[in-house]
Amino acid sequence: MTILVTGGAGYIGSHMVLDLLETGEEIVVFDDLSTGFPWLVPQGVTLVEGDIGDKALLSRVIADHQIDAIAHFAAKIVVPDSMSDPLGYYLNNTSKARTLIEAAVEGGVKHFIFSSTAAVYGETREMPVTEESPPAPVSPYGRSKLMVEWMLEDASRAYGLNAMILRYFNVAGADPKGRSGQATPRATHLIKTAAEAATGRRAGMSIFGTDYATPDGTCIRDYIHVSDLARAHVLALDYLRSGGKGTVINCAYGHGSSVREVIDTVKKISGVDFPVSLDDRRPGDPPEIVATGEKIRSLLGWQPRFDHLDTIVTHALAWEQHLKDRTNT
Ligand code: UFG
Repeated sequence: MTILVTGGAGYIGSHMVLDLLETGEEIVVFDDLSTGFPWLVPQGVTLVEGDIGDKALLSRVIADHQIDAIAHFAAKIVVPDSMSDPLGYYLNNTSKARTLIEAAVEGGVKHFIFSSTAAVYGETREMPVTEESPPAPVSPYGRSKLMVEWMLEDASRAYGLNAMILRYFNVAGADPKGRSGQATPRATHLIKTAAEAATGRRAGMSIFGTDYATPDGTCIRDYIHVSDLARAHVLALDYLRSGGKGTVINCAYGHGSSVREVIDTVKKISGVDFPVSLDDRRPGDPPEIVATGEKIRSLLGWQPRFDHLDTIVTHALAWEQHLKDRTNT
């Protein structure tokens, strides 16, 4: 049994590969290296450089390696970019996912794990969010992912492809052993940005909006450590292979932190008082998005190991320092 990990040279995919390696799994990474890096793929893991829109290549890889499961991470993930280039997002995230699903079905792949997102909930009023909260995405990014969820649900019914849909909340941190982390340039995510400011890789940062109806006026998010998220994928794979029926699962701890709390934590742990400016709200930011985090625990037996903002920030800072040393920037 071999698993194909699309986007396995990227941030979250590479963490799943690390976790899978410890279980002795045979792994093939499939990545176009547009935002991933070959040096994030551990030695001994096969890397196929390719586009998930290339069905002939996918079919060959599935047959040659006797792939029984696919974890599909490869996607474009920047919400504001999806607003300015919706068709690019629908091509990459939706159309090409359809090609991948078709290659999977035709190649006899049994199990499929899909990286979805809390962005499918949009500006939901219901808080905390459960898997039953109605999806109402407001960005092309969220819509591009929700359409894939629907394709998978239909493909499961029609062809028996067993699909687990994992909706990620705010993923952050890095491998505790320092083997991987977020390396993409021009990052926009809060913890990554703050870690760059703390390590001198950027001059400072902004808080986008301080007048929200939250206790300190800044937005609240449910931050999840990338290694805990990776473990959820490994458990999902075990669950599917042992006969569990695919479903939708929110990947989150079940509690939130505000932007100010995050920045204060980064300053406390790094000991660096970097400049922070108070700016206008960023369009499309919901004030709060937090999940219950119950289903992931009850269905998969998931027990997070890094459920503490200090830990997430400590690992994010260590990784940022590593990148700085590596590139001298
Ligand atoms: N923020 C700042 N300053 C920054 C960066 C972010 O104040 O420099 C704020 C944002 O305005 C927001 C919060 O920090 O209030 C979190 O922002 P992120 O960009 O880190 O994350 P988002 O919540 O916008 O996005 C995340 C994922 C998306 C996913 C979305 C679903 O990164 O992929 O959650 O809600 F679609």
